[in-house]
Amino acid sequence: MNRDEAKELLKGRKYNIITFGCQMNEHDSETIAGMLRDLGCEEVVDPRESDITVINTCSIRENADKRFFGTLGQLKKIKERNPDYIACVCGCMMQQQRVIDAVKGKYPWVDVIFGTHNIHRFPELLQRVCTEKQKIAEVFEDSDEIVEGLPSKRLYRHKSFVNIMYGCNNFCTYCIVPYTRGREKSRRPQDILAEISSLAGDGVKEVTLLGQNVNSYRGTGHDGQAWDFTDLIYGINDIEGIERIRFMTSHPKDLSDKLIQAYADCEKLCNHIHLPVQSGSNAVLERMNRRYTRERYLELVEKLRRAVPDIAISTDIITGFPGETEEDFTDTLDLVKRVGYDSAFTFLYSVRPGTPAAEYEDQIPEDVKHERFNRLVDLINAGSAEKNAAYVGRTERVLVDGASKKNDRTLTGRTEGFKLVDFAGGRELIGTMVDVEITEGKTFSLRGRLKSEKESG
Ligand code: 5AD
Ligand code: SF4
Repeated sequence: MNRDEAKELLKGRKYNIITFGCQMNEHDSETIAGMLRDLGCEEVVDPRESDITVINTCSIRENADKRFFGTLGQLKKIKERNPDYIACVCGCMMQQQRVIDAVKGKYPWVDVIFGTHNIHRFPELLQRVCTEKQKIAEVFEDSDEIVEGLPSKRLYRHKSFVNIMYGCNNFCTYCIVPYTRGREKSRRPQDILAEISSLAGDGVKEVTLLGQNVNSYRGTGHDGQAWDFTDLIYGINDIEGIERIRFMTSHPKDLSDKLIQAYADCEKLCNHIHLPVQSGSNAVLERMNRRYTRERYLELVEKLRRAVPDIAISTDIITGFPGETEEDFTDTLDLVKRVGYDSAFTFLYSVRPGTPAAEYEDQIPEDVKHERFNRLVDLINAGSAEKNAAYVGRTERVLVDGASKKNDRTLTGRTEGFKLVDFAGGRELIGTMVDVEITEGKTFSLRGRLKSEKESG
């Protein structure tokens, strides 16, 4: 069978993609979906109805590993019923040899394995499985090449993720990402701007720029000129049709005054920053290799608030990092109170084999980790509820994302500060910007009332 015949064979097949992990993975899954659509395949939600399943894996914490192996076990039954079924696994976990060996050894029904560096090769691998009728595992080492122009099947019509860089050079001692996603590589600014202009032409109003540490973006323009992250923001701010710019994630050690100034200068840059602190203790921050102190972090927050008084700030915090004492943890609680976060993702420290912290001898017992985690979550939630309550009576500009699953007449969207708002309205408003008066502030979301055009003026 040749390539064209293989393509013909794949046409009309049903696929589903199961995605674990972060926005980066979600966006990779959009690319995989775009490639499958170009091959003539159709998406289905239920893996039992599909001819091709792709599991896009995450390795950031141990429970992501466990969920992946559980899901993989379920595919066996589908394969037994349908011998033509193609099971594919990709993503961060497939950049680890121990995982590839486990998949090959214990889950022989898997047909295709690929990593984070060779997503563009997926159609070819799929066709090879059809033609060669044998299992394929292809995980490339890190390379300098960035493949441009891949298709994408976006989750939303009106908003989109845009990768600006790949990989991470920071080596925080708990984190597996530098080992799975490789070294930092920035896309060329002209490629990013062209992609966003084309998205704007296609009706996209909001872009979220993605990178493990967007602040260390370093691009080279046509003329050889160096572009940093803030230059990119200014460039995107000029693109007609784009109304909102977001980004994630930002590393405090690289957050520049120039970026803080951009908040003031660029009306499209949303008044929100996700600024992971991880811990409020200097001793823990040092052992995490974060390369900032709590004082420096608090200073950054103050600068941000001075430049943008109503900026919403969210963060990531890990509890139970090896060696964390009760005093260290109290420092974290204290920092949380001082900053007054709008929201936070909280994580129990999870040992990642191959990272330096996995070797630290002073691991924290699970019950202590959990007890601290619960105290932290209570504090964060109380802070979020207080912040959200203060929104009552304010009018917020909301980009409408969709209708609520429970009630067709309830819409949901995000404020500029990334707060989720529910309000009554018709589906025709999905994808538009509306004004909503906030009537209630809950812990994780706001409720509001849609203002009429006349009220909005
Ligand atoms: N254990 C717990 N949390 C982790 N994170 C990354 N690695 C680990 C780990 N080993 C968290 C960090 C990071 C977020 C994406 O995941 O808080 O910011
Ligand atoms: Fe992991 Fe640290 Fe890189 Fe973030 S900055 S991806 S936490 S190593």
